[in-house]
Amino acid sequence: LTLCVVTLLVAYLIGSTPTGYTLAKLLKGIDIREHGSGSTGATNVLRTLGKGPGAFVLVIDALKGVLAIALVPWPFSFATGQNLLPPTVDPALWLSWMVTLSGLAAILGHSKSIWLGFSGGKSVATSLGVLLAMSWQVALATVGVFGVAIAISRIVSLSSIAGAIAVSLLMLLFHQPLPYVLFGIVGGIYVILRHKSNIQRLLDGTEPQIGQKSSTAN
Ligand code: G3P
Repeated sequence: LTLCVVTLLVAYLIGSTPTGYTLAKLLKGIDIREHGSGSTGATNVLRTLGKGPGAFVLVIDALKGVLAIALVPWPFSFATGQNLLPPTVDPALWLSWMVTLSGLAAILGHSKSIWLGFSGGKSVATSLGVLLAMSWQVALATVGVFGVAIAISRIVSLSSIAGAIAVSLLMLLFHQPLPYVLFGIVGGIYVILRHKSNIQRLLDGTEPQIGQKSSTAN
């Protein structure tokens, strides 16, 4: 149990790393949370600081998700090596549950960062990193859904929501283990909830398209 808690804590802390916030402070001396949508994520960094910084934050935030999952096998092999797993537990199932929970901890950390008073981004890039580490097929198909939505709407939040809805269905389509399907459902709902203010703006018709500045924080 201690090992599980430590693993989840590490995943949360990796997710918590405030990439967008730190980059905005370093490059412009600003608090990114006071600009654009108020999010510390790649979209708001793109909107506020430009393409290069936006791409950098997207890559690093996705890598946080990959890293949080890539570390899971380490405590897992330690636990199996020390015979810490109860004999009734199926190791493969245990591993996929730990991957799922670590993925959720990482995306929680990204949007509720311990370093930013539990504020942050909307967990889209970090979720993509987690998906890449879980199943690259599902990750690519999700990017495909996002890509089609963005080509049609030019609105990142709407496309992120479309991707978040698609993930659990894609997990089923690609015959992923049950814990990963649950990651798709829980993570998808979480990402959609993080877009509450975007949904309001979409309904009001004020959500900016790519390249437009947003005047409303959050
Ligand atoms: O990646 C987050 C995106 O879906 C929305 O970001 O800054 O437009 O609220 P933002």
